[in-house]
Amino acid sequence: MALMYTKMLILITITATILAIGSSNPNFEQGPQNWNFGVNHTNEPFRHKNPVQASRRIIVGGSDNWRFGFNYTEWARTNAPFFFNDTLVFKFDPPSDTNAHPHSIYLLPNLWSYLRCDLRWAKRVANTSQGGGEGFEFVLNKWKPYYFACGESNGFHCQSGMKFFVMPLFRCNPNFQKGPQNWNFGFNYTNEPFRHTNPIQNSRRIIVGGSDNWRFGFNYTEWARTNAPFFFNDTLVFKFDPPSNSNAHPHSIYLLPNLWSFLRCDLRWAKRVANTSQGEGEGFEFVLNKWKPYYFACGESNGFHCQSGMKFFVMPLFRWY
Ligand SMILES: *[C@@H]1O[C@H](CO)[C@@H](O)[C@H](O)[C@H]1NC(C)=O
Ligand SMILES: *[C@@H]1O[C@H](CO)[C@@H](O)[C@H](O)[C@H]1NC(C)=O
Ligand SMILES: *[C@@H]1O[C@H](CO)[C@@H](O)[C@H](O)[C@H]1NC(C)=O
Ligand SMILES: *[C@@H]1O[C@H](CO)[C@@H](O)[C@H](O)[C@H]1NC(C)=O
Ligand SMILES: *[C@@H]1O[C@H](CO)[C@@H](O)[C@H](O)[C@H]1NC(C)=O
Ligand SMILES: *[C@@H]1O[C@H](CO)[C@@H](O)[C@H](O)[C@H]1NC(C)=O
Ligand SMILES: *[C@@H]1O[C@H](CO)[C@@H](O)[C@H](O)[C@H]1NC(C)=O
Ligand SMILES: *[C@@H]1O[C@H](CO)[C@@H](O)[C@H](O)[C@H]1NC(C)=O
Repeated sequence: MALMYTKMLILITITATILAIGSSNPNFEQGPQNWNFGVNHTNEPFRHKNPVQASRRIIVGGSDNWRFGFNYTEWARTNAPFFFNDTLVFKFDPPSDTNAHPHSIYLLPNLWSYLRCDLRWAKRVANTSQGGGEGFEFVLNKWKPYYFACGESNGFHCQSGMKFFVMPLFRCNPNFQKGPQNWNFGFNYTNEPFRHTNPIQNSRRIIVGGSDNWRFGFNYTEWARTNAPFFFNDTLVFKFDPPSNSNAHPHSIYLLPNLWSFLRCDLRWAKRVANTSQGEGEGFEFVLNKWKPYYFACGESNGFHCQSGMKFFVMPLFRWY
């Protein structure tokens, strides 16, 4: 589960990065039919050789359709990226005498439900009989992650592999203005969900916890969630008081090696990045200068501070220059 989660984060970020790279090249050839990526890096990680169509119809699972015993996470990974307005087609047989274990399609509300196959707050998008014939069509027309799962057998189908998630990307717009200084997005959608109106700053200085600083009793996972995304080269600033007569329970900053340690607040293989007195004054600065997930935690009181909320993780994204 931990592995999958990490992979997922990486996947999300890879897709975000592909988008960043895709929209970052000023040598974009103009022309309304030219729906390529605008990429001309020689070292790019990902390239479409053929012109990209405006939208696609993708059969989930390919010739396997939507069935028990197939790993759709793996399928989604190898078939990514998916784009805005792509149509996913789910094909599955309706219940019948020969089909005692039919399938369905649910959308899970978040990553946590997805990881756990927790269907309690899931929303059904297709019942067991809607996958017949040409299949059930689902258009990726929102800019958000979609967590799909089969909702049958109390989550057993989901746990056995019938789940996957996608984060649709935007295609590059052909109306990209040429010019070497014009490092904008290459987007010209009027309804785009995300737009920088001001030139993007190169990096930010973010105080962890905002005015709460780095303190006991604050939920930093929640803070990180509402303050995401974080970008490559952003500086996180941790402010906390040094030990003193009036501060018997000081804090520190550790980096945990993986999601597993993070979930359990297992500090055994953690690396200290700041001791209890380094959060004074202007605070301790940490630059997100690697492209990897960072699992932060307070290392004091044998993990009790961590368990009580003093932990969060970030996965820095690349900016869309
Ligand atoms: C892409 O790069 C190649 C080699 O660097 C160059 O010959 C070509 O003109 C470039 N294409 C565009 C559209 O900039
Ligand atoms: C997505 O499809 C809708 C309806 O067909 C269309 O109005 C919209 O322009 C499309 N958006 C993108 C980004 O392709
Ligand atoms: C599934 O949904 C369709 C369309 O809403 C409906 O006609 C059908 O009766 C439903 N089938 C079941 C098994 O609920
Ligand atoms: C599906 O594949 C992924 C790796 O791509 C693996 O982490 C996961 O455990 C697999 N799921 C099942 C149910 O086998
Ligand atoms: C962006 O779209 C607007 C309105 O559709 C249009 O007036 C403008 O010229 C477009 N800009 C570019 C760079 O294509
Ligand atoms: C990050 O900062 C370093 C050092 O200031 C700089 O060399 C590098 O280009 C920056 N990278 C990005 C992606 O902004
Ligand atoms: C914390 O680290 C700083 C800088 O490395 C050092 O000067 C200080 O003595 C350390 N404080 C404690 C309590 O270990
Ligand atoms: C922090 O908030 C998250 C949801 O955002 C929740 O899942 C978690 O249990 C909370 N942690 C603590 C220690 O309250």
